[in-house]
Amino acid sequence: MDKIIVEGGHPLNGQVTISGAKNAVLPVLAATLLTQGKSEIQAVPGVRDVTTMVRLVQELGVKVDHFEGDRVVLDATGMNNPIAPYDLVSTMRASCLVLGPLLARLGEAKVSLPGGCAIGARPIDLHIKGLEALGAKIQLEEGYVHGTAKKLKGVRHTFDLVTVTGTMNVMMAATLAEGETVLSNAAREPEVSFLADVLNQSGAKIKGAGTDKIVIHGVTSLTPIECQILPDRIEAATYMIAAAIANGNVEVLNCTPGHMKPIIDKLRQAGVTVDTSENSVRVKGNGQLSPVDITTEPYPGFATDVQAQFMTLMTLAKGQSRITETVFENRFMHVAELKRMGADISIEGHTATVRGVEYLSGAPVMATDLRASACLVLAGLVAERDTVVSRVYHIDRGYQDMEKKLSQLGAAIRRVK
Ligand code: UD1
Repeated sequence: MDKIIVEGGHPLNGQVTISGAKNAVLPVLAATLLTQGKSEIQAVPGVRDVTTMVRLVQELGVKVDHFEGDRVVLDATGMNNPIAPYDLVSTMRASCLVLGPLLARLGEAKVSLPGGCAIGARPIDLHIKGLEALGAKIQLEEGYVHGTAKKLKGVRHTFDLVTVTGTMNVMMAATLAEGETVLSNAAREPEVSFLADVLNQSGAKIKGAGTDKIVIHGVTSLTPIECQILPDRIEAATYMIAAAIANGNVEVLNCTPGHMKPIIDKLRQAGVTVDTSENSVRVKGNGQLSPVDITTEPYPGFATDVQAQFMTLMTLAKGQSRITETVFENRFMHVAELKRMGADISIEGHTATVRGVEYLSGAPVMATDLRASACLVLAGLVAERDTVVSRVYHIDRGYQDMEKKLSQLGAAIRRVK
């Protein structure tokens, strides 16, 4: 299994270009199932979750004509298999995004339940409730969610909790339902609005995406998708924090500062200089970090996917900060690893109290999930001596060329087999 070795203490300078957003391309790939004809997706990030999703749609009968570099061309006209098997779904929870499109297009879906994962139970009951509201009959059979629907019918539905992929799943299904669907308490993430825009370009009639109320007028068919994936705001935030922690001067290119407001605000409060322009951000560390409290929330709040990285930054602040996680019930797995590197953190319920230390020390550490693994690499950038991060397959799920991008900025980082 690969490991990443980071030698701490090298300043970061220069430019880094952000890839397309993993959390936008996965739903768009699922949305191609709703369409007939050849779809073309550009600015696709080279990450393992994308490979998994492409394999999954292929398994469902989609013809993949091109999957190389940052471009995918595929055709779901002949899609005929409603079964998303365990071996693919178990490696990536977002596979459940095919549930709504399969029901809408084939009238049947049999998708393996994703099961637990490192950051909590993460059930898909809210996806199921929304699809049932549209008229699908859903049963759980031998570890699979088995849904059937003669014809989905528009409905008024309120999500009990804000769910990003749940909102996307039900919104996608409703595009081909009969009549009007109104979704309340919908997720407002930029990736939800992006998906709605992409679907509208293919003939869907979706209004209000980006607010908590989405109205969808069902249509009978959708034309192929042609789009360019928006930049990954989580990857961008990770490099912004890397620059801040390594006291660097880094320009983060191809990003949308408007999608990262809470992170930019919190970095500034911590004493980091952040200059924004339309499509880029320049981050300069100022040698001293002030402690800042954060609470994760659904968009437009502080993203849970940046919590681990921000906590790493706070381990070196002058004073005490409190990090409260409200989105997932078990998302402090990285704390034990950061403590092994000398961080002073205690957890009580959903809040971690971080008391800044003078320095972190390199150590062998283990990645536990995607963002936790990024936070360990960030810690390694400034730790004394070498940090060896194992289980880096987590990083490969969601960060394209992380070692390469950091090396280009001046980090001493390498991967060993
Ligand atoms: C998406 C993102 C993930 C991010 C998360 C929160 C993708 C592919 N993944 O995940 O990177 O961390 O949003 O911003 O876009 N819940 C239920 N029942 C459900 C669905 C969710 O109880 O049916 C709970 C979850 O356990 C969690 C909360 O709702 O506590 C929010 O989860 P959700 O927004 O659904 O996360 P994902 O869409 O899986």
